[in-house]
Amino acid sequence: MRIDVSFNAAQLDELQLRDKNVVVIDVLRASTTVAVALANGAREIIPVATIESAVKISGSLFGEVTLRGGERNGKMIEGFNLGNSPAEYNENMVRGKSIIFCTTNGSVAMSRSRYARRLFVGGFVNLTAIVNAIREEGDDFVLLCAGRSNGLRSFSLEDAVCAGMVISALSLQKTASVDLTDASRAALALYKGLGRSILKMLRTSDHGQYLTEIGFADDLKLCADVDSVPVVPAQQGTVIKLRKMEIRTPEIEPNVERPESA
Ligand code: MLT
Repeated sequence: MRIDVSFNAAQLDELQLRDKNVVVIDVLRASTTVAVALANGAREIIPVATIESAVKISGSLFGEVTLRGGERNGKMIEGFNLGNSPAEYNENMVRGKSIIFCTTNGSVAMSRSRYARRLFVGGFVNLTAIVNAIREEGDDFVLLCAGRSNGLRSFSLEDAVCAGMVISALSLQKTASVDLTDASRAALALYKGLGRSILKMLRTSDHGQYLTEIGFADDLKLCADVDSVPVVPAQQGTVIKLRKMEIRTPEIEPNVERPESA
């Protein structure tokens, strides 16, 4: 299987992703939040690219079972119920709810991948679950790093290192041969160089520093906690849900006290 990496979702349009198998990676924080929300019993995530779409869609859904979640500049959008901190998406808040989800880069990447053959959402928190899901598919995949829509700063270190960790794990499993591209070799090299302490890497990244500055330092610990939320968010129709076999009462509560991830 060929594993390719795109370092910024804004470089691709939905037709280029059509019929591909895609894993959207937005470690800080959209992918992590989606995994936590679904593990904590959210019914589905409806990713949208703009606030206008979020407002329009929520007008056509039942208020008591629908929440609006997301951010601009890392902070909750006015009129929304939730921001984009995975800690907010606890069971009390999200169980049974449909969440219309609008973030600066992550939900845009998910929405842009809507014509993909398979679409999974991955981060460090569900790394092994995603690796196993890719292996089960046994087919080519694009690891689509959400990156940033911030002018020249369009690259996100944490997404690239996570893509590299997925590739490393797939290559180690040896059940199928993994063909790399230059982009996937680069991601793998970054993971080998920086993957020894995921939390440290997140703290030094541009977006990690920004989140720390605006008061979300604890989110970095949640997002660094490898395999703490072992679920596979997968697109079904126009929404993202847990795959059927994973729907259960969650035992997983993100644990901010856990030691630094490897
Ligand atoms: C995004 O989609 O750009 C991020 O998830 C931003 C954030 O950290 O909230």
